Amino acid sequence: MPRIAIFQFSGTGNTYFVAKAICEAIRKTDRCDLFAVENHLADADRLIERYDIIGLGYPIYGSSLPLIVFRFIEALSTHQKKAFTFCTQLLFSGDGAAYGARQLEKKGFVVLWQEHFRMPNNITDLRLLERKKPYDFDRIARYVDRRASRFVSLILSGREHRRGSNVGSLLLGLLQRVPFEAMDPAVLSEAVRIDQDRCVRCGECVALCPVSNLRRIQDEIFPQKRCTLCYRCVNHCPTQAIRLATGSYVKFPYHGPKSAFSIKTVQEDDRYSDSPSDDPST
Ligand SMILES: Cc1cc2nc3c(=O)[nH]c(=O)nc-3n(C[C@H](O)[C@H](O)[C@H](O)COP(=O)(O)O)c2cc1C
Repeated sequence: MPRIAIFQFSGTGNTYFVAKAICEAIRKTDRCDLFAVENHLADADRLIERYDIIGLGYPIYGSSLPLIVFRFIEALSTHQKKAFTFCTQLLFSGDGAAYGARQLEKKGFVVLWQEHFRMPNNITDLRLLERKKPYDFDRIARYVDRRASRFVSLILSGREHRRGSNVGSLLLGLLQRVPFEAMDPAVLSEAVRIDQDRCVRCGECVALCPVSNLRRIQDEIFPQKRCTLCYRCVNHCPTQAIRLATGSYVKFPYHGPKSAFSIKTVQEDDRYSDSPSDDPST
């Protein structure tokens, strides 16, 4: 019975929702633990050693990976382990899951399974992408369950599945990724704008930011030039006081599928399911 760990990063809940569905499907027969990338930027090696198969899930940004996911992979040592990648996206990424797989392969992982999940948009500060109608989250949940179950059956049967690893997908991916990655990281890292008149200093954004980009200084909240564009603060500010540089203040925030994205839930899920003393490898 393989022991499987999934590391996921989710700005606004979509990837977390998919990761949970994959984890639950695995748990029907095998062991699976779920970890948040943002909690393990420095100690993932230690955890990875305890598992047979490693999963990595992330949202697609311009057919590329969130900076925090690049950092997570960069910090890893070499691991000759089987792995799978999955990404969530609004429309398409081209080769989103394959691109993450290639990053993992540089660290020795043998990535045999890759999958894409289409999920709601979380860029809510662009009028062009604004959605006024509510999402049908029951339909989304059914879609995720179906796709996650199929993906898991491929993983557990050992049959390879490499979504995004064909020439067409690679070309589509490049089309978006090249201009996206060409943008100046220094400019992107300063993208957050806070309207100090709307801000009620509740500190929600400070608590939620995965990269400590928001800091309270003398009772005002200031961005720290570390933004990685995850849109968590934009969507969770209770007074819609936050936008990114090119956006306008949000009218219809996105709180993730089904239930509101909660850091508390992510923290509660993030654990090694056996106590280390039960583990034969320790
Ligand atoms: C900066 C940024 C760039 C994005 N680029 C793409 C893209 O290239 N293609 C796409 O289909 N969706 C894109 N999206 C949408 C997200 O990938 C999608 O909503 C994802 O499911 C969000 O996942 P999360 O809730 O786990 O953060 C982008 C979102 C952001 C914030």
